[in-house]
Amino acid sequence: MRIAVVNTKGGTGKTSSSIMLAEAARRKGFTVAVIDADPQGSASKWAEVAEEAGDPLRFDVTDANRATLARKIKAANVGYLLIDTAPGDPAIIDAAVSHADLTIIPTRTTPADLDRALETYRALSTPAAILLWNIDSRHQLYKQARELFEEEDIVAFGAEIPTREEVNKMWFTSLDFPSLHGYEEVFAELHEALTTEGE
Ligand SMILES: Nc1ncnc2c1ncn2[C@@H]1O[C@H](COP(=O)(O)OP(=O)(O)OP(=O)(O)O)[C@@H](O)[C@H]1O
Ligand SMILES: [Mg+2]
Repeated sequence: MRIAVVNTKGGTGKTSSSIMLAEAARRKGFTVAVIDADPQGSASKWAEVAEEAGDPLRFDVTDANRATLARKIKAANVGYLLIDTAPGDPAIIDAAVSHADLTIIPTRTTPADLDRALETYRALSTPAAILLWNIDSRHQLYKQARELFEEEDIVAFGAEIPTREEVNKMWFTSLDFPSLHGYEEVFAELHEALTTEGE
């Protein structure tokens, strides 16, 4: 399965979600890989720093650019491929989305972020789901976001990623931590949705 992780806004959890979902899939026994299609190279840097520290990620992260992305996606031979994208590069986003089985749009619930996520979602003509990320479920904005999804039939994961300072400590490590802070549940939902499709 190929999963594009996309948002036209920066800093919305794309790289964290790509790497953490890859690790969640790996823990369930799937072969996984990440393609870093962001010229900022955050996912590749995660892999490099972890490797240099002697604590490498347990899956490969390879980079891709506009010219190589489609070919690299098609050539990947793994159970789950996560494609991390750049926020401001429509060509990269289009290539990732059009070659993916599902697009995940991570977002906070602040009005400006949610608005951009919905704009990204509505522009897609392929299967997509919003992932509420870095959220406090006691907050009114969270409740409003869930209501909006319900009212407007917007596809969103029921599982979500809470605000967790610990996630910052997990960056640049092999992810040898007991909890993935919600990504296990998101992956379970994702896998269920992709494998029962059409039944
Ligand atoms: N669950 C979390 N709670 C709090 N902070 C988090 C959480 N997950 C990630 N972060 C932090 O949020 C910041 C943005 O995350 P990330 O880099 O994954 O976003 P991005 O969408 O890939 O950004 P960019 O658009 O620059 O590529 C990072 O500093 C990261 O450590
Ligand atoms: Mg990123």
